[in-house]
Amino acid sequence: MSIAHASGYTAVDSVEDPAALATFMDIVATCRGIDTGRRLVAEQLGLGPGSSLLDLGCGTGEQTRALATRVAPGGRAVGVDLSQSMIGEARRRAGGAGVAVEFEVGDAQALPFADGTFDACRSERMLTHVPDPRAALAEMVRVCRPGGRVAVLDADSESMIVDSDDRRLARQVVASFADSLQNGRIGRQLARLMTDAGLTVLTVEPHIISFPHDVTAVLLDTHLRRMVADGALSDEMSSAWLTEVIDRAASPVYMTLFAVVGVRERDLPA
Ligand SMILES: C[S@@+](CC[C@H](N)C(=O)[O-])C[C@H]1O[C@@H](n2cnc3c(N)ncnc32)[C@H](O)[C@@H]1O
Repeated sequence: MSIAHASGYTAVDSVEDPAALATFMDIVATCRGIDTGRRLVAEQLGLGPGSSLLDLGCGTGEQTRALATRVAPGGRAVGVDLSQSMIGEARRRAGGAGVAVEFEVGDAQALPFADGTFDACRSERMLTHVPDPRAALAEMVRVCRPGGRVAVLDADSESMIVDSDDRRLARQVVASFADSLQNGRIGRQLARLMTDAGLTVLTVEPHIISFPHDVTAVLLDTHLRRMVADGALSDEMSSAWLTEVIDRAASPVYMTLFAVVGVRERDLPA
Protein backbone atom coordinates (compact mmCIF):
# COMPACT_ATOMS: atom_id res chain seq x y z
CA MET A 1 0.00 0.00 0.00
CA SER A 2 1.01 3.62 -0.41
CA ILE A 3 0.36 6.30 2.21
CA ALA A 4 1.24 9.90 2.83
CA HIS A 5 4.40 10.47 4.88
CA ALA A 6 3.86 9.81 8.60
CA SER A 7 3.99 13.56 9.20
CA GLY A 8 0.60 13.65 7.42
CA TYR A 9 -1.04 12.74 10.74
CA THR A 10 -0.54 16.39 11.77
CA ALA A 11 -3.18 17.45 9.23
CA VAL A 12 -4.89 14.32 7.97
CA ASP A 13 -7.56 16.16 5.99
CA SER A 14 -4.89 17.90 3.91
CA VAL A 15 -3.28 14.73 2.53
CA GLU A 16 -4.33 13.25 -0.80
CA ASP A 17 -5.78 10.05 0.65
CA PRO A 18 -6.83 10.39 4.33
CA ALA A 19 -8.49 6.94 4.21
CA ALA A 20 -5.09 5.34 3.58
CA LEU A 21 -3.77 6.89 6.82
CA ALA A 22 -6.74 5.35 8.66
CA THR A 23 -6.03 1.94 7.09
CA PHE A 24 -2.37 2.21 8.05
CA MET A 25 -3.43 2.91 11.67
CA ASP A 26 -5.44 -0.32 11.60
CA ILE A 27 -2.34 -2.19 10.44
CA VAL A 28 -0.05 -0.60 13.04
CA ALA A 29 -2.58 -1.44 15.76
CA THR A 30 -1.94 -5.14 15.08
CA CYS A 31 1.83 -4.82 15.68
CA ARG A 32 3.19 -6.44 18.82
CA GLY A 33 3.66 -4.01 21.70
CA ILE A 34 0.72 -1.69 20.99
CA ASP A 35 -1.71 -4.03 22.74
CA THR A 36 0.36 -4.24 25.94
CA GLY A 37 0.63 -0.45 26.13
CA ARG A 38 -3.10 -0.08 25.54
CA ARG A 39 -3.93 -2.66 28.20
CA LEU A 40 -1.78 -0.90 30.80
CA VAL A 41 -3.41 2.45 30.05
CA ALA A 42 -6.91 0.95 30.14
CA GLU A 43 -6.23 -0.59 33.55
CA GLN A 44 -4.77 2.60 35.02
CA LEU A 45 -7.38 5.10 33.86
CA GLY A 46 -9.50 4.24 36.90
CA LEU A 47 -12.65 3.73 34.80
CA GLY A 48 -15.85 2.09 35.98
CA PRO A 49 -19.57 2.22 35.30
CA GLY A 50 -20.67 5.87 35.18
CA SER A 51 -17.18 7.30 34.47
CA SER A 52 -16.55 9.88 31.79
CA LEU A 53 -13.60 9.45 29.42
CA LEU A 54 -11.99 11.64 26.78
CA ASP A 55 -9.97 9.90 24.05
CA LEU A 56 -7.98 12.69 22.47
CA GLY A 57 -6.69 12.23 18.91
CA CYS A 58 -9.02 9.23 18.74
CA GLY A 59 -8.55 8.58 15.02
CA THR A 60 -11.08 5.96 13.94
CA GLY A 61 -12.19 5.53 17.55
CA GLU A 62 -10.99 1.95 18.12
CA GLN A 63 -9.97 2.61 21.70
CA THR A 64 -12.89 4.96 22.39
CA ARG A 65 -15.24 2.08 21.53
CA ALA A 66 -13.20 -0.48 23.46
CA LEU A 67 -13.13 1.69 26.59
CA ALA A 68 -16.82 2.64 26.31
CA THR A 69 -17.61 -0.85 27.56
CA ARG A 70 -15.74 -0.02 30.80
CA VAL A 71 -17.81 3.10 31.55
CA ALA A 72 -21.21 1.49 30.81
CA PRO A 73 -23.80 1.70 32.11
CA GLY A 74 -24.31 5.37 32.72
CA GLY A 75 -20.89 6.59 31.59
CA ARG A 76 -19.68 8.74 28.74
CA ALA A 77 -16.91 7.99 26.23
CA VAL A 78 -16.00 10.89 23.97
CA GLY A 79 -13.51 10.75 21.08
CA VAL A 80 -12.05 13.98 19.71
CA ASP A 81 -9.87 14.33 16.64
CA LEU A 82 -8.67 17.23 14.50
CA SER A 83 -9.63 15.40 11.32
CA GLN A 84 -13.16 15.48 9.90
CA SER A 85 -12.37 12.38 7.91
CA MET A 86 -11.19 10.43 10.99
CA ILE A 87 -14.27 11.48 12.95
CA GLY A 88 -16.49 10.47 10.02
CA GLU A 89 -14.88 7.03 10.00
CA ALA A 90 -15.11 6.76 13.81
CA ARG A 91 -18.85 7.50 13.66
CA ARG A 92 -19.33 5.01 10.81
CA ARG A 93 -17.52 2.23 12.74
CA ALA A 94 -19.44 3.02 15.93
CA GLY A 95 -22.72 2.69 14.02
CA GLY A 96 -23.11 -1.04 14.45
CA ALA A 97 -20.87 -1.48 17.47
CA GLY A 98 -23.63 -1.39 20.07
CA VAL A 99 -21.71 0.89 22.45
CA ALA A 100 -22.56 4.45 23.48
CA VAL A 101 -19.84 6.76 22.18
CA GLU A 102 -19.70 10.36 21.03
CA PHE A 103 -17.25 11.76 18.49
CA GLU A 104 -16.43 15.34 17.69
CA VAL A 105 -13.93 17.32 15.69
CA GLY A 106 -11.62 19.42 17.86
CA ASP A 107 -8.05 20.56 18.32
CA ALA A 108 -6.18 19.04 21.26
CA GLN A 109 -4.51 22.40 21.83
CA ALA A 110 -7.84 24.21 22.48
CA LEU A 111 -10.54 21.81 23.65
CA PRO A 112 -14.25 22.71 23.58
CA PHE A 113 -14.92 21.42 27.13
CA ALA A 114 -15.27 23.10 30.51
CA ASP A 115 -12.67 22.55 33.25
CA GLY A 116 -12.99 19.20 35.03
CA THR A 117 -15.48 17.70 32.54
CA PHE A 118 -13.93 14.20 32.51
CA ASP A 119 -12.90 11.61 35.08
CA ALA A 120 -10.09 10.46 32.80
CA CYS A 121 -8.36 11.52 29.62
CA ARG A 122 -6.13 9.50 27.30
CA SER A 123 -4.28 10.13 24.08
CA GLU A 124 -2.45 7.62 21.93
CA ARG A 125 0.21 8.41 19.34
CA MET A 126 -1.20 11.91 18.89
CA LEU A 127 1.33 14.15 20.65
CA THR A 128 3.99 13.08 18.14
CA HIS A 129 1.97 15.03 15.57
CA VAL A 130 0.81 18.10 17.52
CA PRO A 131 2.69 21.39 17.00
CA ASP A 132 2.41 22.41 20.68
CA PRO A 133 2.42 19.30 22.90
CA ARG A 134 2.61 21.39 26.10
CA ALA A 135 -0.63 23.14 25.13
CA ALA A 136 -2.29 19.78 24.43
CA LEU A 137 -1.17 18.36 27.79
CA ALA A 138 -2.35 21.50 29.60
CA GLU A 139 -5.75 21.03 27.97
CA MET A 140 -5.90 17.36 28.95
CA VAL A 141 -5.17 18.32 32.56
CA ARG A 142 -7.65 21.20 32.50
CA VAL A 143 -10.60 19.12 31.28
CA CYS A 144 -9.81 16.30 33.74
CA ARG A 145 -11.30 16.65 37.22
CA PRO A 146 -8.96 16.90 40.23
CA GLY A 147 -8.22 13.33 41.27
CA GLY A 148 -8.74 12.11 37.69
CA ARG A 149 -6.21 10.29 35.54
CA VAL A 150 -4.41 11.43 32.41
CA ALA A 151 -2.68 8.76 30.31
CA VAL A 152 -0.52 9.19 27.23
CA LEU A 153 0.78 6.46 24.98
CA ASP A 154 3.30 7.79 22.51
CA ALA A 155 6.29 6.69 20.52
CA ASP A 156 9.85 7.84 20.57
CA SER A 157 10.61 7.72 16.86
CA GLU A 158 14.34 8.18 17.33
CA SER A 159 14.39 4.90 19.25
CA MET A 160 13.86 3.01 15.98
CA ILE A 161 16.13 -0.04 15.82
CA VAL A 162 17.10 -1.21 12.35
CA ASP A 163 19.36 -4.15 11.52
CA SER A 164 21.53 -2.71 8.73
CA ASP A 165 25.22 -3.14 7.86
CA ASP A 166 25.36 0.52 6.85
CA ARG A 167 25.32 1.94 10.37
CA ARG A 168 25.99 5.50 9.27
CA LEU A 169 23.05 5.51 6.89
CA ALA A 170 20.82 3.76 9.44
CA ARG A 171 21.58 6.51 11.98
CA GLN A 172 20.95 9.18 9.35
CA VAL A 173 17.58 7.71 8.34
CA VAL A 174 16.40 7.23 11.93
CA ALA A 175 17.39 10.75 13.01
CA SER A 176 15.89 12.27 9.90
CA PHE A 177 12.65 10.33 10.38
CA ALA A 178 12.37 11.62 13.96
CA ASP A 179 13.18 15.16 12.77
CA SER A 180 10.46 14.99 10.11
CA LEU A 181 7.71 14.69 12.74
CA GLN A 182 6.46 17.49 14.99
CA ASN A 183 7.73 15.69 18.10
CA GLY A 184 9.79 12.66 17.08
CA ARG A 185 11.28 12.33 20.58
CA ILE A 186 8.12 12.87 22.62
CA GLY A 187 8.27 9.42 24.23
CA ARG A 188 11.37 10.17 26.32
CA GLN A 189 9.97 13.62 27.23
CA LEU A 190 6.50 12.55 28.36
CA ALA A 191 7.08 12.07 32.08
CA ARG A 192 8.77 15.48 32.34
CA LEU A 193 6.16 17.30 30.26
CA MET A 194 3.30 15.68 32.17
CA THR A 195 4.91 16.65 35.48
CA ASP A 196 5.34 20.22 34.18
CA ALA A 197 1.63 20.19 33.26
CA GLY A 198 0.74 19.68 36.93
CA LEU A 199 0.30 15.90 37.05
CA THR A 200 1.75 13.55 39.60
CA VAL A 201 3.19 10.83 37.39
CA LEU A 202 2.33 7.34 38.64
CA THR A 203 3.63 5.11 35.88
CA VAL A 204 6.25 5.33 33.14
CA GLU A 205 6.49 2.15 31.12
CA PRO A 206 8.38 1.69 27.88
CA HIS A 207 6.93 -0.94 25.55
CA ILE A 208 8.64 -2.18 22.41
CA ILE A 209 6.60 -2.19 19.22
CA SER A 210 7.83 -4.57 16.54
CA PHE A 211 7.03 -3.69 12.96
CA PRO A 212 6.92 -6.63 10.56
CA HIS A 213 8.55 -6.05 7.19
CA ASP A 214 5.44 -5.17 5.23
CA VAL A 215 4.72 -2.37 7.74
CA THR A 216 8.36 -1.24 7.77
CA ALA A 217 8.35 -1.09 3.98
CA VAL A 218 5.40 1.33 3.98
CA LEU A 219 6.70 3.45 6.85
CA LEU A 220 10.28 3.82 5.61
CA ASP A 221 9.56 3.95 1.88
CA THR A 222 7.68 7.25 2.12
CA HIS A 223 10.41 8.74 4.29
CA LEU A 224 13.26 7.54 2.07
CA ARG A 225 11.49 9.02 -0.96
CA ARG A 226 11.35 12.33 0.87
CA MET A 227 15.08 12.12 1.70
CA VAL A 228 15.84 11.44 -1.98
CA ALA A 229 13.68 14.40 -3.04
CA ASP A 230 15.53 16.59 -0.52
CA GLY A 231 18.88 15.51 -1.99
CA ALA A 232 19.98 13.83 1.26
CA LEU A 233 20.30 10.43 -0.42
CA SER A 234 20.59 9.00 -3.92
CA ASP A 235 17.79 6.86 -5.32
CA GLU A 236 20.18 3.89 -5.60
CA MET A 237 21.34 4.15 -1.98
CA SER A 238 17.79 4.45 -0.78
CA SER A 239 16.55 1.37 -2.69
CA ALA A 240 19.58 -0.72 -1.73
CA TRP A 241 19.21 0.17 1.96
CA LEU A 242 15.47 -0.49 2.07
CA THR A 243 15.93 -3.80 0.27
CA GLU A 244 18.58 -4.86 2.81
CA VAL A 245 16.32 -3.93 5.76
CA ILE A 246 13.24 -5.62 4.33
CA ASP A 247 15.12 -8.76 3.21
CA ARG A 248 16.27 -9.39 6.78
CA ALA A 249 13.10 -11.24 7.61
CA ALA A 250 14.36 -12.38 10.99
CA SER A 251 14.95 -8.78 12.15
CA PRO A 252 11.80 -6.70 12.47
CA VAL A 253 12.17 -2.96 13.04
CA TYR A 254 11.56 -1.96 16.65
CA MET A 255 10.45 1.28 18.28
CA THR A 256 9.77 2.27 21.89
CA LEU A 257 6.24 3.25 22.85
CA PHE A 258 5.98 5.00 26.23
CA ALA A 259 2.91 4.58 28.42
CA VAL A 260 2.80 7.36 31.01
CA VAL A 261 -0.04 7.76 33.49
CA GLY A 262 -0.53 10.65 35.90
CA VAL A 263 -3.10 11.89 38.35
CA ARG A 264 -4.35 15.46 38.60
CA GLU A 265 -3.94 15.91 42.33
CA ARG A 266 -2.98 19.52 42.66
CA ASP A 267 -4.41 22.81 41.50
CA LEU A 268 -3.21 23.77 38.05
CA PRO A 269 0.05 25.74 37.97
CA ALA A 270 -0.62 29.49 37.67
C1 LIG B 1 -1.39 8.08 14.50
S1 LIG B 1 -3.04 8.58 14.68
C2 LIG B 1 -3.52 7.74 16.19
C3 LIG B 1 -5.02 7.62 16.32
C4 LIG B 1 -5.54 6.85 17.54
N1 LIG B 1 -5.20 7.51 18.78
C5 LIG B 1 -5.04 5.43 17.56
O1 LIG B 1 -4.19 5.12 18.39
O2 LIG B 1 -5.49 4.62 16.74
C6 LIG B 1 -2.91 10.28 15.24
C7 LIG B 1 -4.25 10.98 15.32
O3 LIG B 1 -4.09 12.24 15.98
C8 LIG B 1 -4.92 13.18 15.32
N2 LIG B 1 -4.43 14.54 15.58
C9 LIG B 1 -3.30 15.13 15.10
N3 LIG B 1 -3.20 16.38 15.57
C10 LIG B 1 -4.27 16.60 16.36
C11 LIG B 1 -4.73 17.71 17.14
N4 LIG B 1 -4.06 18.87 17.16
N5 LIG B 1 -5.87 17.59 17.84
C12 LIG B 1 -6.58 16.42 17.82
N6 LIG B 1 -6.20 15.34 17.08
C13 LIG B 1 -5.05 15.42 16.38
C14 LIG B 1 -4.85 12.78 13.85
O4 LIG B 1 -5.90 13.34 13.09
C15 LIG B 1 -4.89 11.25 13.95
O5 LIG B 1 -6.19 10.76 13.92
